[in-house]
Amino acid sequence: MSASGLEIADSYGAWEQFNTVAYKSYTHGGRFVNNIANGDGAASYGEYEDGAALPVGTVLAKDSFAVSGKGTVVAGPLFVMEKMPAGFDAESQDWRYTLVMPNGNVIGTTNGAGSGDVAFCIDCHVYAERDSVLFIPEEFRM
Ligand code: HEC
Repeated sequence: MSASGLEIADSYGAWEQFNTVAYKSYTHGGRFVNNIANGDGAASYGEYEDGAALPVGTVLAKDSFAVSGKGTVVAGPLFVMEKMPAGFDAESQDWRYTLVMPNGNVIGTTNGAGSGDVAFCIDCHVYAERDSVLFIPEEFRM
């Protein structure tokens, strides 16, 4: 069991990864990140900008790490988006955002504890061309 107690934190390691190598994401604290999708969402996520809304049950995980000046790798937060059934949250286009710190501490989850602390995720993602999903810079796509 992961420290956060979240099932996703335990299982995403076995899901499909869509980036070739970890790349630096300035929108996620300038850390190196990976893009991972669960079985319900992988085929649809792989259509990138061309697809329709992603299926309910899709889980997108983005883990992160930083490299210190001395070359030490330091774990960063885990960023999660889950596509919930219609009516979950109009503002987020029915996505539930969750931010998990490396020690397992959950900062917030949309419509749950700390919801206000993850509202900034929505403010940025909602401007995406396709269903609040922003994908991966082209040069890092599988
Ligand atoms: C300033 C804009 C911005 C904010 C704020 C932001 N994101 Fe993102 N997010 C992006 C962009 C751009 C991408 C795709 C490329 C990248 O990672 O740089 C992305 C990708 C993702 C992905 C991979 C799925 C996808 O869209 O392709 C997840 C999961 C994710 N973000 C979760 C979060 C969570 C959770 C938060 C809040 C804690 C958050 N993001 C805050 C801009 C943002």
